[in-house]
Amino acid sequence: MTTHAGPGPSLAPASGAAGGKLILLGEHAVVHGEPAIAAALSSGIRVTIVPREDDLRTVDGEPAGDARLARAIAIAADRLGLGSERGFDTAIEGDLPEAVGLGSSASLSVALVRALAAASGASLSGDALAEAAHAVEGAFHGTPSGVDVTTVLHGGLGWYEVGPPRRWEAIVPAKAIDLVVVVADRRHDTGRTVGSLRERATAHPGLYRPLFRAIGELVREARSAIEAGDRERLGEAMTLDHGLLRACGVSTPALDTAVEEALGKGALGAKLTGGGGGGAIVALSADDAERLAARLDRPGRPAFPLRVPAR
Ligand code: MEV
Repeated sequence: MTTHAGPGPSLAPASGAAGGKLILLGEHAVVHGEPAIAAALSSGIRVTIVPREDDLRTVDGEPAGDARLARAIAIAADRLGLGSERGFDTAIEGDLPEAVGLGSSASLSVALVRALAAASGASLSGDALAEAAHAVEGAFHGTPSGVDVTTVLHGGLGWYEVGPPRRWEAIVPAKAIDLVVVVADRRHDTGRTVGSLRERATAHPGLYRPLFRAIGELVREARSAIEAGDRERLGEAMTLDHGLLRACGVSTPALDTAVEEALGKGALGAKLTGGGGGGAIVALSADDAERLAARLDRPGRPAFPLRVPAR
């Protein structure tokens, strides 16, 4: 294996991987101090770093076309102490749909830091890895709450609060949670939906604070329903959460239609998931999620089942 001398640690070819995430309840309000419940996904992203002889930093062999991605790579390299003269190629692959609210940016951020740490022979502590990944995610999303990166790093199902300090607690479901994810609308930009909601909430705190608080109450109710194995109550909390997210202005007609359709086809609850403004919905299945997924799947609007196991 060749390594390359130069500023900062030398590099050797290496890879890093991370899964995605699904927010069950609490997105957006979590940015404003309320709790959220999220689950890690096994689908994810793998990043491979290959050192170069020159100082270029390329993505799949070409200069990064996306300025945010170039910035993310620069932040990650900086966190690993790699001087700007240290060139390398970044290859990105994976099976996570991009920019639909399933954590592709968080997954990429964690995988990138893991890959660069492995390539430079650094052994990062859990905290240093988390801090670096949160900083990298900021390149994509501006001022994220950290729920996505934290979920990806911890795995499983958990309760998140932005803090400071950030807080994650594993949640143990009394019964398996059978979900269907429907990618219902075009790609979205989480940074934009978070930023414009923040502007509205700052301009009119009296209008938006009660909505965020109500979402927080639904998240608390949902946790107790999950721990009691009460699927009906969890489903109702999810559907009410969608109504509040819609009131916050982060849903779209395609997401609303998909939610209505899921409820009409037997889901116990349904809501948008992630940043909204496009992307995916999540529906809670009363029984076999494969059957509900088959009823909701159609060309151009894929639906797939997902199970959060009981423990
Ligand atoms: C995005 O997956 C979740 C949001 O709450 C943004 C964030 O918490 O950073 C919309």
